[in-house]
Amino acid sequence: MAISGNKEKKTFDTGDLKVPVSLGVIMDGNGRWATQRHLPRTAGHKVGAENLKELCRNCVGYGVKYLTVYAFSTENWSRPKGEVDQLMKLFVELFDKYDPELAEQGIRVRFSGDDSELPQKVRDVCRTAEERSKDRPNMQLIVALNYGGRREILSSCKKIAEQVKAGEIEPSDITEKMLSDNMYLPDVPDPELIIRPSGEMRLSNFLLWESAYSEFWVSDILWPDFGYEELTKAFRDFALRDRRFGGLSKKESKK
Ligand code: FPP
Repeated sequence: MAISGNKEKKTFDTGDLKVPVSLGVIMDGNGRWATQRHLPRTAGHKVGAENLKELCRNCVGYGVKYLTVYAFSTENWSRPKGEVDQLMKLFVELFDKYDPELAEQGIRVRFSGDDSELPQKVRDVCRTAEERSKDRPNMQLIVALNYGGRREILSSCKKIAEQVKAGEIEPSDITEKMLSDNMYLPDVPDPELIIRPSGEMRLSNFLLWESAYSEFWVSDILWPDFGYEELTKAFRDFALRDRRFGGLSKKESKK
């Protein structure tokens, strides 16, 4: 399918590539993108947010069903107050502003993280965005906001500890599945692929539990410049990965 009117010629042809059902993206490099252009870091976040719309269009085009993006980590509060305030302002403004386009693309919006520390205005916008989009069928956009993988695991453990305390289960009954079932969004499949632009090779506390067997793909392109071509490259490389999940490759196990 060729999409006209875009600067890049897009064909969502999946011939030699593999599209993950569940994809994670660490939107990194906004600050560097802005600094390279002698702009304030917040200008990078604005362009980065615009690029999230582009990523959504491309993921819907390719048929991704769950897209989880890292928008603000539990550690990002340590940034200068001005930058944190600007990011919160962006979250308040953009989910309303982007909604017509998200609706047109059939995208359901959900949030993952500890919302108790977010400003009330941000929480309200998040709840509204979730509520009005809940019946959209094409893709779920999960925005990790005040998200930390360790905090998510801790929160799951605390919920299970309450069940032990109430005498509903014994500590020896606790299983990996119970931990998974008590994560923030247990119905969202673990990401098969995690993409990190901007060249850094770490998870930075993103989806620690869920990424146990995710494939990791890193690009030197900074997030605001990460477009259709890079995404297509990632899906092409993903098709070549031999996912063994601790076992043997298909070829080996036939021997
Ligand atoms: C990391 O780049 C980026 C962030 C901490 C913010 C990501 C947020 C957005 C892209 C806006 C999302 C908007 C919505 C509406 C969800 P960095 O600042 O760490 O970049 P650097 O490593 O180059 O300094």
